Amino acid sequence: MPVKTRFPKLEDSPKIYELIQNSPPLDLNSRYLYMLQATHFRDTCIVAELTPENGEAPSQIAGFISGYRLPENPESLFIWQVAVSSSARGKGVAKKMMLELLQRPALKSIKQIMTTVTPSNTASLKLFESLARHLKASFTEEMGFESALFGGDAHEAEMLYKIGPFHFI
Ligand SMILES: CC(C)(COP(=O)(O)OP(=O)(O)OC[C@H]1O[C@@H](n2cnc3c(N)ncnc32)[C@H](O)[C@@H]1OP(=O)(O)O)[C@@H](O)C(=O)NCCC(=O)NCCS
Repeated sequence: MPVKTRFPKLEDSPKIYELIQNSPPLDLNSRYLYMLQATHFRDTCIVAELTPENGEAPSQIAGFISGYRLPENPESLFIWQVAVSSSARGKGVAKKMMLELLQRPALKSIKQIMTTVTPSNTASLKLFESLARHLKASFTEEMGFESALFGGDAHEAEMLYKIGPFHFI
């Protein structure tokens, strides 16, 4: 099935919620949060849609990336969550979404990507390493959010990764 990326819409938010719910180890946020991301933050979020070629079955949301520009440094794009449905993984969908997000005219001024990844999340780390290689940009790691900050919840630390500076054309 062909995969197309596009801006999210408010009506996508229940499907985005379900995608995140089915994508451990991601933290599931409120439905309301995904409504905000699909509207107020649509310029820095992207969905991947699978459209059946015969046009009979409804299209499905197979991927989602949420992000925002850092308020104190709008040339930095913080990537919050990346999810691809389990059946669509390993086919380049996450990387395609990342690159197509960066190609948007409104994001031309982005020179750095920041994200956090838990140490056990190999797939996520590989995705961002691959992106750094593609952008020919440096890739650095530092402590992001210590495990203790997550209170009583058993939660690994979130390591902070920075990709950049880069000039993406
Ligand atoms: C992480 C995730 C988004 C990757 O999506 P994907 O569409 O399968 O990734 P891609 O196919 O675009 O792969 C991008 C790169 O990462 C590598 N990669 C992806 N999954 C991998 C895995 N499980 N093990 C090793 N490498 C992996 C690919 O080989 C590729 O590298 P390359 O460009 O050098 O060939 C997906 O596994 C997922 O949704 N996981 C659950 C949620 C999650 O952990 N999200 C990330 C935290 S924000």
